[in-house]
Amino acid sequence: MIYAANFKTNHTRSGTKRYLEELQQKISGRNTADRIFVFPPFTALDHYEGDYTLGVQNCYPVRKGAFTGEIGLEQLEEFGIGTILIGHSERRQLLHETQEIVAEKFAFFQQENFEIVYCIGEPLEIREQGDSAVVEYLLAQFDGIDTAYGKLIIAYEPIWAIGTGRSATVGEIASTHKVLRQSVSKPILYGGSVNPSNIAQIVSIDNVDGVLVGSASLSVDSFYALITA
Ligand code: PGA
Repeated sequence: MIYAANFKTNHTRSGTKRYLEELQQKISGRNTADRIFVFPPFTALDHYEGDYTLGVQNCYPVRKGAFTGEIGLEQLEEFGIGTILIGHSERRQLLHETQEIVAEKFAFFQQENFEIVYCIGEPLEIREQGDSAVVEYLLAQFDGIDTAYGKLIIAYEPIWAIGTGRSATVGEIASTHKVLRQSVSKPILYGGSVNPSNIAQIVSIDNVDGVLVGSASLSVDSFYALITA
């Protein structure tokens, strides 16, 4: 299973350091094929060694240059970062990233051989229109994306389930992941209000290869509870 923690705009540099040290203490010596990812904010990036992979939540698709306020590849390389989240719904919605921008980022980081956790997900009004509307909406989020890329992980995150405390139902997750599996032969994570009480059920669903977690990853105890559920 894959367990990914997305801190979003939470935790400081020192808080992240404490978190990663505690996480490492808890997970070291575990003998499993599980993979653990942590996506802290940029300001918390540093050289870390552990049984987890540190990634970034975003990056501008350039090596360096005149892009005020952005972070480029050069700044990630300083810390050996080779993993990125692309297409998170908060960036699509709040930062107005279009499918074109998302695809451009994807192509850039694919070229740079990054591991990419690529996020897709539908808003509530699409979910309410039924399964075929959902599938059509989700597949359109693969426009311009090379889904055959070797270092790709998909994260399905229904927007209405993110940070709302209302996870998708087992049936919704199962049917959506099944359809996605027919189009992409990559690991597929579920995200959206995953927590210590629903994790066991979610990871037991067919075609769920792991979880991408926001709120319930912010405390190391809670994230560790997910990993060991
Ligand atoms: P949540 O966020 O776990 O707080 O719902 C998930 C995500 O946005 O990745």
